[in-house]
Amino acid sequence: MNTETFWNDIYRQGSPTTSGRPGLIVAQFAGPLASRTALELGCGKGDGAVWLARQGWAVTAVDVSTVALSLAAGNAEAAGVAERVRFEAHDLATSFPAGTFDLVVASFLHSPQDWPRAEALIRAAGAVARGGHLLVVEHGSRAPWSWSAEDTRFPTAEETVEAMRLPLTLGASVACARSRGWPRGRMGNPPP
Ligand SMILES: C[S@@+](CC[C@H](N)C(=O)[O-])C[C@H]1O[C@@H](n2cnc3c(N)ncnc32)[C@H](O)[C@@H]1O
Repeated sequence: MNTETFWNDIYRQGSPTTSGRPGLIVAQFAGPLASRTALELGCGKGDGAVWLARQGWAVTAVDVSTVALSLAAGNAEAAGVAERVRFEAHDLATSFPAGTFDLVVASFLHSPQDWPRAEALIRAAGAVARGGHLLVVEHGSRAPWSWSAEDTRFPTAEETVEAMRLPLTLGASVACARSRGWPRGRMGNPPP
């Protein structure tokens, strides 16, 4: 199954609404920054993008799933920030949004498909404006209700940084974090 079809099916089966809350690591990282331009890769239903827009950021939010993007656009509208979020459909395996941004976020940008994720993250680093920030957040473990196979192992922050082969000349900060993961059997919102 191709990536767009896979994620469209996931989002069709889920609730269209959003918690309106970004991941805790995203909020902790972006909260203190001056609100300028932000790019979110794999925005899903727009929790992070809507929150960033509410903090005053001008956000470009990208996902492969057109279903997710339309849910995210509805959530941005409902939150009164539609004019601050631009949604773009990209399969990051093959295309990438144009421009540079003061903050680029890839939060839980995981997928069961075999795709060149490291290449997308390298492009993400290249899309950070001079003096800006890239934040990559990895799942700490598989959620009990997850789409992922039971033996899925997500990369550590160190493995992700290594895979990105960042040049020493990069004029941006790069932060890579991993959520604590889900305690066995826990349901509800993910922990930080
Ligand atoms: C696990 S969800 C995370 C959603 C959101 N960032 C969050 O933190 O809740 C992964 C998201 O990445 C998107 N995605 C997966 N592979 C992608 C690709 N190749 N190009 C663009 N988006 C992709 C999926 O559609 C999905 O919305």
